[in-house]
Amino acid sequence: MEKLVSLCKRRGFIYPGSDIYGGLKGTWDYGPLGSELKFNLKQEWWKTMVRERDDVVGLSASILMNPKVWEASGHTQSFSDPLIECKICHQRFRADQEDLIKEHEKQHAKKKEKASWTEPKKFNLLVEAKLGVVEGEKSTVYLRGEITQGVHVNFKNVLNSTRLKIPFGIAQIGKAFRNEITPGNFTYRSIEFEQMELQYYVKPDEKDSMKQYEIFKNIRMDWYKNLGIEKDKLRFREHAKDELAHYAKAAWDIEYNTPFGWKECEGIHHRGDWDLSRHQEYSGQDMNYFDEETKEKFIPWVLETSGGVDRATLFFLIEAYNEEKDSAEGGTNRVVMKLHPKLAPYKAAIFPLLKNKPELVEKAREIYKNLKKDFSVAWDDRGNIGKRYFSQDEIGTPFCITVDFDTLEKNSVTVRDRDTMKQERIEINKLKNYLGEKINE
Ligand code: GAP
Repeated sequence: MEKLVSLCKRRGFIYPGSDIYGGLKGTWDYGPLGSELKFNLKQEWWKTMVRERDDVVGLSASILMNPKVWEASGHTQSFSDPLIECKICHQRFRADQEDLIKEHEKQHAKKKEKASWTEPKKFNLLVEAKLGVVEGEKSTVYLRGEITQGVHVNFKNVLNSTRLKIPFGIAQIGKAFRNEITPGNFTYRSIEFEQMELQYYVKPDEKDSMKQYEIFKNIRMDWYKNLGIEKDKLRFREHAKDELAHYAKAAWDIEYNTPFGWKECEGIHHRGDWDLSRHQEYSGQDMNYFDEETKEKFIPWVLETSGGVDRATLFFLIEAYNEEKDSAEGGTNRVVMKLHPKLAPYKAAIFPLLKNKPELVEKAREIYKNLKKDFSVAWDDRGNIGKRYFSQDEIGTPFCITVDFDTLEKNSVTVRDRDTMKQERIEINKLKNYLGEKINE
């Protein structure tokens, strides 16, 4: 993890938030490469969960909402973690994070102190903000604790402005905020993070809804595998009854085997009629769905897939990080980020073999500009070719294209594959198709 965190900062994937002011715990900024990676990841999610389906549409709701939304959703009442405080140094912990608590006790034991703890009390995770221009008349609003509620309050708007019929889903990607007691493990638990969620509305039928729920569990698991996570590093974990969130009838997590243990990546939740019936009760608006065919009227049930963009980004980075002996290229060690080409920040890097040969630079520049119209590509003319490969491997660029003297005569370039380190000659006019096919393989 230390090596990855340092690479992320050095190469521009992820920096600590407010770095020049000493940071703000639990906040992170994505650099040039990190923002490309995150953008690609969200695009892949949107493609799978929205574009490729006929029964799902997108939504982009505002972060700030009427505070009544959070009363209705149960968050002001029940969105809390158990908090305990060390009676010696007053440091606070989540009562269920046993590893951190044990570590803290050890620190005190080293100083011949015996740590003791306050009784667990409920700590609400909603982040508050003040709205209004007149001091003293400002009202308290919440930064959304989950992106979910923006979808449910728009259930009727979407229904009335589209021709959707149940079952159908509304998808959204956006920021959420939580007053986490112990943020940590790099971006894993942050105060501000992005979620990617599908809220899928179904008929209130136990058997059919569970069948659909299983389908979503598999769709989500396959998404991680198809983008390069090894199947043995992923597993499902069912929430015990006493662990279920206040809205959930059933919940399974997809977990990833990180260097700091098996950790939640995404939750798949059966939310029953919790959200719509509560919003009906608190807003006084009718949230029923009327089925034209059967003439039935009902509050739909909700199946939810809720993933973290930052967690998925972190897990793909962990999975991609490799240290290898590079026997083909001089026997040195190389660090290679084996990111799926669909996720890689740059799809290819273009090099002129020699920087001081204008005819090579000009040709390479032309290829670079052409590819830039269709792909995110990098330019590098520093140092020798070996160093350029090394630098691109470290950020996960799947293909390196070199313009050499043969290029000028034969109109072809060498393309070096990041993972196999094999090179092949490709005609310049076939490069675009070649890259397109390789990325989507
Ligand atoms: N709408 C349901 C919901 O929000 P959740 O299990 O609380 O469910 C869903 O959160 C996902 O959001 C998690 O699986 C995780 O990927 C991400 N997430 C939650 N809290 C987070 C945090 N503090 N930092 C980063 N990601 C977080």
